[in-house]
Amino acid sequence: MSHILMHRKKPVAEIQIAKGTSTIIDTIDLTDPKHLPIGVTVKRDGKPDIEDLNDWFGGRSIPASRQNIKAALQSMGIASTDKLLVMCYGLSLSDQYWVNPKESPLKWEDINFFENDFSEDVGDALFGNAVQGKKIDFVSPNNTSDGILQKKWQIINNKRCLIKGGSDPFYQQPFNETMTTIVMNRLNIPCVDYSVIFEDKRPYSICENFITSETELVSAFNMHNTRLFLRPKEELYEHYLECCEELGIADARLCLDKMLVADYLTMNDDRHLNNFGAVRNAESLKWLGFAPNFDNGSSFCNKELTEDILLPGIHKSQPFRQIHDEQIKLVKDFSWLDLSALDGIEDDFLKILESSAQINEQRRDSICKAFKNRITDLERFIK
Ligand SMILES: Nc1ncnc2c1ncn2[C@@H]1O[C@H](COP(=O)(O)OP(=O)(O)OP(=O)(O)O)[C@@H](O)[C@H]1O
Ligand SMILES: [Mg+2]
Repeated sequence: MSHILMHRKKPVAEIQIAKGTSTIIDTIDLTDPKHLPIGVTVKRDGKPDIEDLNDWFGGRSIPASRQNIKAALQSMGIASTDKLLVMCYGLSLSDQYWVNPKESPLKWEDINFFENDFSEDVGDALFGNAVQGKKIDFVSPNNTSDGILQKKWQIINNKRCLIKGGSDPFYQQPFNETMTTIVMNRLNIPCVDYSVIFEDKRPYSICENFITSETELVSAFNMHNTRLFLRPKEELYEHYLECCEELGIADARLCLDKMLVADYLTMNDDRHLNNFGAVRNAESLKWLGFAPNFDNGSSFCNKELTEDILLPGIHKSQPFRQIHDEQIKLVKDFSWLDLSALDGIEDDFLKILESSAQINEQRRDSICKAFKNRITDLERFIK
């Protein structure tokens, strides 16, 4: 089926999507190569690389590893997550790409999720509350949300908010998101503002969309694909900074180092290349800078048993080194960092953690002590 790959209101390329799937089988015409998604290469014959395009487009669907996805799909009568992708024209709330059916074209103004309301049906199904006895409205930004944790976009007081769960047995991630927000705010590190809400007694983090109808998030993964990476994997940090420089993103090293310091302190073990990136204007393609730090919840020893939290051991890291003690060595400038700004932060942590039904007093205290140890370790490292 013929579609036009669109960037906001701009046609980028005519593509063929195999019927009933989200597989791009051909590109017929490339109208505007500048507006191709970052990381998709153009081949010698002037066509976008079909494998790149499919990796990028397929990566827009809900990952098969999403919590409870099988049950959610079943409740909606849908066979796979890539079916959902085309049902919402590939539109998302994190960027401005979509696919416009050539036979019955639509206007971006009429369908984008930033300016138009959307149904809660798919979000409800993803949270195990599928609508009964009514036709499901499948046009939803939830069809293109990434990540493993259960999540849904919802319009609250006219703001697009992302509501995201935690995992068994402690459901600690929503609290971690909130504690990390406080750490980063105190250290003047730009970050998404998360807080905790409860739905059916379960904790969820909630944050507002940091993307607007004019901007878009480009993941570090797509950015790092703009140059061939043929060097040893230990040089990913340098490679990524070179990509940033070539793209024209200001202050990349400082922003990256601030993120690495926050991740060291909060013991974040999940900073893969889709968990940070940069923001650009989707019309002018002008880079606005690093994205505020988001997805900070896999931290504060959330996978450890309570009795193991304070045991001496290594803290795993991503994406440049496998352990934080090595990754922090990439940071050369700490002149911006004032660790005394964290004094007394345990009181804030305790207040947040006390609302959890799954985190007991011993675990709360251990989390606070582990964090204090990280400050001491970092002070020692810097000296
Ligand atoms: N506040 C936000 N505004 C815009 N886009 C966002 C926001 N928060 C997250 N996203 C987008 O949604 C994706 C999924 O969110 P997030 O990374 O928080 O989920 P996750 O399930 O914790 O992911 P992971 O699988 O990495 O653990 C992000 O990769 C990003 O593209
Ligand atoms: Mg993520």
